[in-house]
Amino acid sequence: MTDVASQPSAPADDRQVLTNRQGHPVFDNQNQRTVGARGPATLENYQFLEKISHFDRERIPERVVHARGATAFGYFEAYGSWGDEPIAEYTRAKLFQEQGKQTELAIRFSTVAGGRDSSELARDPRGFAVKMYTEDGNWDLVGNNMAVFFIRDAVKFPDFIHSQKPDPVNFDRQVANRVFDFISQTPEALHMVTMVFGPRGLPASYRTMQGFGVNTYKWVNAAGDTKLVKYHWIPKQGVKSLTAEKAAELQGQDLGYHTKDLYEAIERGEYPEWELQVQLMDDHDHPELDWDPLDDTKVWPENDFPLKPVGRMVLNRIPENFFAESEQIAFGTGVLVDGLDFSDDKMLVGRTFSYSDTQRYRVGPNYLQLPVNSAKHAKVATNQRDGQMTYVVDTGGENPHVNYEPSITGGLREATYPTHDDQGPEITGRLTRKRIPRTDDYRQAGERFLLSEQWEQDDLVLNLVGALSQCDRPIQERMVWHFFLCEDTLGRRIGEGLGISADDVRHLPPLASQTLTEQEQDRLANLG
Ligand code: HEM
Repeated sequence: MTDVASQPSAPADDRQVLTNRQGHPVFDNQNQRTVGARGPATLENYQFLEKISHFDRERIPERVVHARGATAFGYFEAYGSWGDEPIAEYTRAKLFQEQGKQTELAIRFSTVAGGRDSSELARDPRGFAVKMYTEDGNWDLVGNNMAVFFIRDAVKFPDFIHSQKPDPVNFDRQVANRVFDFISQTPEALHMVTMVFGPRGLPASYRTMQGFGVNTYKWVNAAGDTKLVKYHWIPKQGVKSLTAEKAAELQGQDLGYHTKDLYEAIERGEYPEWELQVQLMDDHDHPELDWDPLDDTKVWPENDFPLKPVGRMVLNRIPENFFAESEQIAFGTGVLVDGLDFSDDKMLVGRTFSYSDTQRYRVGPNYLQLPVNSAKHAKVATNQRDGQMTYVVDTGGENPHVNYEPSITGGLREATYPTHDDQGPEITGRLTRKRIPRTDDYRQAGERFLLSEQWEQDDLVLNLVGALSQCDRPIQERMVWHFFLCEDTLGRRIGEGLGISADDVRHLPPLASQTLTEQEQDRLANLG
């Protein structure tokens, strides 16, 4: 007979009862099933095994870059035209066409180099990745807050990132020597260096930073005409930064300062807003420019290529679950909709392979079935089947037995091209491995320094001298040499901070990988 007095008493409230994943009620969540009160434990204890083995798998690999980040949700609202010029003249992408048309979106802000639990107040570029759930399927714009990048060929990316990460032998996180070792041999990084070590490297919040697509894309109109395009997100909240000193003080109190700021603002109803603006250029190689329009280490001067506003983004919701919506969200540069296209930018093409490749590993082969990644407003019908964690039953066309195409027995059919299937300029060339001809590595870095306000120049010099002070002397000398080639005052001021003069570095030959332009050779001959 059961001893009623020894049974745990039922909870005297109407809260939902705890179950396991099979739907079985959990009667005791405090004690495993054992032989006698002191054990041993029994192996057939399904409830315990389900709970502990799920826990054992609660982490997925963190992102190899941009591991620390925060997701939010909102909408994009299109303007439809510039004055009386309809946007349809430039792109047929549906989300941009009508004034007032809203498209649901997700955004993830991030830092780049640190791990998942690292400080959000580290000096670093910030990721700015937007996913729009359009009626034509998803569009991802995966950018940063800097407008440019360190390298221009995707084949260099793993080396660049290794230089940013801790020492592989002892995991030493004092990485300045590694970072500048790589950069001193990579002159195209100089423009990005003048951004990351200036005020933009420490944004005051995610709400007060700009975003950029960085790489060059294309727009395609209904006639198949193409334009090169660059994207800019301009915050209505203004652009604000922190000094290194202030960031260190805040970091001492909270490693997740930026996520908290963003989420608390949204919860207070202060919805952050950005305007999306684009720069357009005719789709060819523009021999009249000293730089290449497909080079992501360059900006397009706004006087020559004016910014045109195309819509606004509002963030009004935070995730219900960090893991499901921030850890598992997956962005990629290959995720474009009709009317938007790739350019031949060598970084963009390399990135486009990398994102979905890492996500199949990091999240799993069916990562696109997860709610945060799936195309919410487009009908998805593929012949893909199976794989780990298949969640969606993709029944295909009228006949669910036909998971192949072509077929005359009711399978899926190809879509009809909206208009033209051939677009853009014709390209001819030989297979090769070459740098782009117009590298122009120093000029925009020097111009940016000269155009900065005095306090921005001072901040840049202070931060660079601080970081370079931790580096070996040959690295310092080569960096001072590069800074002189950018701009005399920049070279001189950083040199002074490190005790290195123009005379100490003028004997250095150009890097083996470099071919200096006449103008650069001239600067080198008159260094300082
Ligand atoms: C994340 C690769 C350049 C912005 C990532 C991830 C990889 C990657 C593997 C992790 C994705 C994931 O696990 O879901 C590359 C490669 C690059 C490159 C191979 C160069 C060839 C860039 C550039 C930008 C950028 C130039 C900025 C314009 C981002 C952002 C994320 C990211 C914002 C985080 C996305 C998120 O929030 O989930 N990148 N990246 N990357 N990358 Fe890149």
